[in-house]
Amino acid sequence: MSYHVIIPAAGLGKRMGAGINKLLLTLDAIPILIHTLKVFEADPRCSDIILAAHPDDEQAFKSLLKEHGIQKVSSLVTGGKERQDSVYNGLMALNNLDEIVLVHDGARPFIEIETIHKLVDAANKDGAAIVAVPVKDTIKKATDNQVIETIERSSLWSVQTPQAFRSSVLLEAHNKAAREQFIGTDESSLVERIPHPVSIIEGNYDNIKLTTPVDLYFAEAILRKWKESGI
Ligand code: CTP
Ligand code: MG
Repeated sequence: MSYHVIIPAAGLGKRMGAGINKLLLTLDAIPILIHTLKVFEADPRCSDIILAAHPDDEQAFKSLLKEHGIQKVSSLVTGGKERQDSVYNGLMALNNLDEIVLVHDGARPFIEIETIHKLVDAANKDGAAIVAVPVKDTIKKATDNQVIETIERSSLWSVQTPQAFRSSVLLEAHNKAAREQFIGTDESSLVERIPHPVSIIEGNYDNIKLTTPVDLYFAEAILRKWKESGI
């Protein structure tokens, strides 16, 4: 089963505080965005990549794709104000709505092909599937720094991307969210509101989202570990 992937890469990287889109920062002399794209470029099951870019980054992205030999980007779409808008613009570039589409953050370069394939197979079967890992910390609900309750940890998952859907399901979820002016932090939250069931594939703790400066140190360590183990 092949799939398309939409990669939202049109953020501003405010929490990284680098003054530029964090995806242009390098790890081992290669931009974070290229690390992420290389995973899909190398996966034979990925038919094409739809990349959402901020207008200010479009030229830089185009040069990087050329420089690093990324050939699977079929559309470079303009990103929107929210991540959800960027994904929607990517979805509009899809032609065939019977197929499986993944959404994967440009800021998550450490996704393994094995996990992607498990996810695609689950989405093909169930219509919607996400990658997540069990929560390690104890999570409490609070208001004004006063604990309200401790949430049973065994039922909690820390959700990552990629998230995979039958394209028609994702489109329905986005259209409903747009009609109801709902903004979610991931695609699954829109699909859950249809309502449509979403299954979980257990992923890997390495698949972090590079969000704040300290994440760059973690990323260097993960990259070193991957190199040492020959991934
Ligand atoms: N993204 C996007 N369009 C937006 C906002 C975010 O395509 N309007 C993308 C980012 O480029 C990133 C992914 O969505 O690959 C996850 O978002 P996040 O980690 O929040 O990145 P930024 O929005 O760039 O960072 P910040 O929130 O700190 O500004
Ligand atoms: Mg953001």
